[in-house]
Amino acid sequence: MSQFVPPYPDRPREPLPPLAMLRAVRRNFLAAFDDKCFEYQLFTVQMLRRRLFVCNSPDTVAQAFIAKHDSFERKTPQMRHALHPLLGDGLFISDGRTWKERRAIVVPIVHASRLPQFAPVMVEAANETAERWAALPAGAPIDALREMATLTAEIICRTVFGPRLGRENATVIVASFSEYQRLVGQLDLMSLIGLPDWLPRFYSPAIRRAARRIHEVLDDIIRRCEGGGEASMIRLLLEARDPETGAGLDPEALRNEAAVIFMAGHETTANSLAWSWFLLSQAPEEEARLHAELDAVLGGRLPTLDDVPQLVFTRAVFEETIRLYPPVPFLGRQALQDEQIRSRKIPKGSLVAVVPWLLHRHRQLWDKPDHFIPARFLPENAGARQRYSYVPFSVGPRVCAGQAFGLTEAILCLATLAQRARLRLLPGTVVEPVCRLTLRPGNALPMTVQPRG
Ligand code: HEM
Repeated sequence: MSQFVPPYPDRPREPLPPLAMLRAVRRNFLAAFDDKCFEYQLFTVQMLRRRLFVCNSPDTVAQAFIAKHDSFERKTPQMRHALHPLLGDGLFISDGRTWKERRAIVVPIVHASRLPQFAPVMVEAANETAERWAALPAGAPIDALREMATLTAEIICRTVFGPRLGRENATVIVASFSEYQRLVGQLDLMSLIGLPDWLPRFYSPAIRRAARRIHEVLDDIIRRCEGGGEASMIRLLLEARDPETGAGLDPEALRNEAAVIFMAGHETTANSLAWSWFLLSQAPEEEARLHAELDAVLGGRLPTLDDVPQLVFTRAVFEETIRLYPPVPFLGRQALQDEQIRSRKIPKGSLVAVVPWLLHRHRQLWDKPDHFIPARFLPENAGARQRYSYVPFSVGPRVCAGQAFGLTEAILCLATLAQRARLRLLPGTVVEPVCRLTLRPGNALPMTVQPRG
């Protein structure tokens, strides 16, 4: 069993004073939690004029996100304002009636039942990456983070847009999404000092430009899809009808939901896959076990959707990766009314969060919480885990709509690539988990490609 403890930011021994806390949150919010936060079950943090309640045990997670979902369904003002220029009223940041209607439309589009249609696209794109790597000289350096971002963007482009996107549009949209993420901070100080939601926020011209570029590409694709019958998620969105009212989406709503699927559906998987490569490169026994499984199940051929249930260790590697490095490490909500969790009063307007970063490394919930041990996710060990201690896809009515898509995509990509190559960290590279909107291994992950014999 691997004794490897992958990197995490220093944990202050005591809670940070308010200003140091704000600075830490803006730079890398993972570094803002002191050591005790990995033991508490329900605790509060004062953020300027807002109080944050952190639900950090299975029962408090279930209360906030399942039992009392109606009181906590709204995303935080920070998240809503950060993503508004890009997603408008898209389901990721909407609530109430709009969220319900959009969710009913989007869920069937990215649902597990569509995987037979999407899985071959995933394998085809991963195999193109494997071929490209095979053509590199042995030991050639790559940026594994960028490689995975390009791969998952390619997959989401081909499934969302069909082949109509075109290389040029693909490059523009991927670069603009990444630029948007870079520019927009998760922390909206105006909301934290208690200013009302309706006050307009300042968005820099660069943020607006990035959002406009994405909208132009999406609008163009949607116009072209209106005429033809090509299979793609855009086509499905165009044909979608609300199951209750029978109404279709208006053009702006349609574009917002396409942007949601594109944004939610590519960076999460990309960051996690990059982390998997890093972890495997540091834990040779786990890597050997992965290779043994791939050789036994696939024997050198490309994987298909039917192989996924047999790839139990491949899946365990990915699940352990997103335990240690959940791509969405902070799930924030705002209380819509006065509430109570355990005996703690939660006043209307307060912020409430489930923090997978803390929960997944909680000392009372996990044995060796900071170690990389994929075997804990093998089916025979499932009984050792408490329900709601592991929530990389969130839980409750707002659970990730693309969970099956993301997991299957990750397993098929890992299986396709790890059959052909192993990646090694470039000597001297220091890997640090950093989080703004999503958790990633810094801005780049320099590795070398070594073909497998
Ligand atoms: C490893 C991969 C993924 C992870 C870990 C992940 C995680 C999450 C999490 C934690 C949320 C809830 C965020 C919150 O409550 O603040 C979410 C929402 C969402 N995800 Fe994923 N996701 C992944 C892949 C995908 C993919 C591939 C798609 C689509 C193809 C997708 C579509 C969505 C959508 C539409 C929502 C919004 C759901 C709602 O608000 O009702 N995700 N995801």
